[in-house]
Amino acid sequence: MILKATKIIGVGKCLPENIITNDDLSNVVDTNDEWISTRTGVRQRRIVNDKETATSLAISASLDALGFAGMDGEDMELIIVASSTPDYVFPSTACEIQSAIGASCPAFNITAACSGFVYALSVADSFIKSGAYKRVLVVGTEVHSRFIDWEDRNTCVLFGDGAGAMVLEAGDDENEILSIEISADGKKGMELKLPVSGSSNCPFNNKEASNPYIWMNGKEIYKFAVTTVPKAIKSALALANVDISKLDYLVPHHANMRIIDSVKERLNLKDEQIIVSLENYANTSTASVPIALTEAVEQNKIEDGSIIALCGFGGGLTWGTAIIKWHARDKRK
Ligand code: UT7
Repeated sequence: MILKATKIIGVGKCLPENIITNDDLSNVVDTNDEWISTRTGVRQRRIVNDKETATSLAISASLDALGFAGMDGEDMELIIVASSTPDYVFPSTACEIQSAIGASCPAFNITAACSGFVYALSVADSFIKSGAYKRVLVVGTEVHSRFIDWEDRNTCVLFGDGAGAMVLEAGDDENEILSIEISADGKKGMELKLPVSGSSNCPFNNKEASNPYIWMNGKEIYKFAVTTVPKAIKSALALANVDISKLDYLVPHHANMRIIDSVKERLNLKDEQIIVSLENYANTSTASVPIALTEAVEQNKIEDGSIIALCGFGGGLTWGTAIIKWHARDKRK
């Protein structure tokens, strides 16, 4: 029998313990807490120590989500990881997780920058709804701190490290992924970029060698985000046949609190409907949505049956929205 519904059965997260405040950053670059907090909403971020990696954060977040779901690694039939800052291009982070959690399933990474988690969720949902796999682990992990120019105040104040995960299962009753829409506009791709390390290594073609770090045209990306994201959320709600008045929560990608506030106003949402942890963790790119969702669940903020929009946007340029219905229960409790 082909099961056509996707259920969300676990969420998890992992943040490094090391906290870097805005004041700490003002000792490194010409910046200050007032500028960072008023322009972005960020007050502190977590940064990996020498032993932590994108993979180690991803493994911890995966084990957290598996524990929530009451599952073992060997129960997983597919692992998909979204990351722009993996430790290796190959082996993929997904294969490293597979080995660490004792799974024996297919595993691969995808890249869609800050939309990566929603993109990965859409791949997982499609595989489940096609009947190909019954249990899928989806992970977003980033270690931005190793890909940032710590002398560039335009970028170094914005990002943090972290990982988030979700376990999905095929079901035969209520579908909990009500809709997912993913989109891209490659024409504006170079407004936000991170060259892979090899692009600075060839003596005959070293175009990117002078800046192998994250670079962004902040104003262009800001304009893109505030115009595109509200439309994307409305479109995904329409696809799910859910009126915006029935939307309980929005978990937006954590790029900038001013962007999130603008989206909130354009959609007429209230403060308490916005699930956000930007203040403490900054922009963790593909991990920001699952981290914020997991934290809200841990804090018992999400009621059973809540309708939630998960929205990613960023490099590519890419954007994506998933409308989900929350029914998961933490099996450890
Ligand atoms: O997750 C991926 C998606 N990313 C985004 O969506 C990010 C979108 N963009 C943004 O969030 C904002 O554009 C930024 C937060 C990146 C920048 O905010 P802004 O209001 O656009 O500032 P700005 O770039 O126009 O800079 C204003 C001033 C400049 O000084 P002058 O030229 O006016 O004298 C900057 O040099 O602020 C200066 N500045 C800073 N000052 C103190 C830039 N960075 C800093 C800093 N500390 N860290």
